[in-house]
This record gives sequence, C-alpha cells and structure tokens, in this order.
Amino acid sequence: MEKTSFLSEVKLINLPKIEDPRGNLSFLEEFSHVPFKINRTYWIFDVPGGQVRGGHSFRQQEEFIIAISGSFDVVVDDGKEKKIYSLNRSYYGLFIPAGIWRQMENFSTNSVAVVVSSTTFSSEDYIRDYEEFLKFKNSQ
Ligand code: TYD
Repeated sequence: MEKTSFLSEVKLINLPKIEDPRGNLSFLEEFSHVPFKINRTYWIFDVPGGQVRGGHSFRQQEEFIIAISGSFDVVVDDGKEKKIYSLNRSYYGLFIPAGIWRQMENFSTNSVAVVVSSTTFSSEDYIRDYEEFLKFKNSQ
C-alpha cells in the first residue's frame, strides 16, 4: 500500500548530545530517535560545488537525514507546497515520511549527508518523475 504524506509530517528531530571536553558525542536508535525500524544507512560525500542530489520521492521508504559534517539544504515538497530545511549540525536531523518529493542542494565543501532509511534499497520504490509524483499525490 503506497502512502502519501504532507509537509506537516516532515520533522526536525533533535538527537542526544553528550557534551564532553574531550569532544562531543551524539547517537540515534531505531523506534526512539527515528520513528521507524532501520534497515539501511547510506551517505553522500565528495559532492562537487553546485551539485544537486536526490530529486525524487519514495513510495514506502521513510528516512532521516543528518548533516554529519558541514551543511546542505533539503527541499521538501508534498505536491502543494515546498519548504527548505538547512541542516548544519550532527546532533539533529530531518525525518521525511514516504510520499514527499525531496532534493538536497547547497552542499558545503567536505560536507557529508548520512541517510538512515526504513527500507533496504529498491529502485522500484523511487518516483523520479515529478509529473508522475503529482499524479500519484492527486490519486491518493
Ligand atoms: P540515488 O538514490 O538515485 O541518488 P540521487 O537521488 O542523489 O541521484 O542513488 C544513486 C545510485 O546509487 C543509483 O544508481 C542507485 C544506487 N544506490 C544503491 O545501490 N544503494 C543505495 O542504498 C542507494 C541510496 C543508492
């Protein structure tokens, strides 16, 4: 069953931050800091200046995106409105439910995006065509 979502369901989630003079520590656990079972983690790194990643939506996948180093913007779109979240700290991230179009841009030099996902990789889960995304949203 495909799921649709609204921008109001996209949430910034703070992670624990254990401050220490030796260096700070943060972490996340499934069902607790991220509201789903974790099936995969991937990361995006060495992004050349001006490049854009991830212009697509997912049918099932829920995800949590962290700027583990540096900064970038995540543009989210539910087919009706768009919002830009600037991520620039490793102790919070952006929860994005299924059925949201999202794009990552404005990567700083040496930034690293970590994406924690509720699903293993499936190319069939992607909606890569924006018109198809709008049709999918309007059919829900
Ligand atoms: P993709 O998610 O399409 O990146 P973007 O949306 O930023 O273009 O992934 C790029 C390629 O990497 C694509 O061929 C699929 C592959 N890939 C995997 O094999 N496993 C994964 O977990 C991910 C995220 C991508």
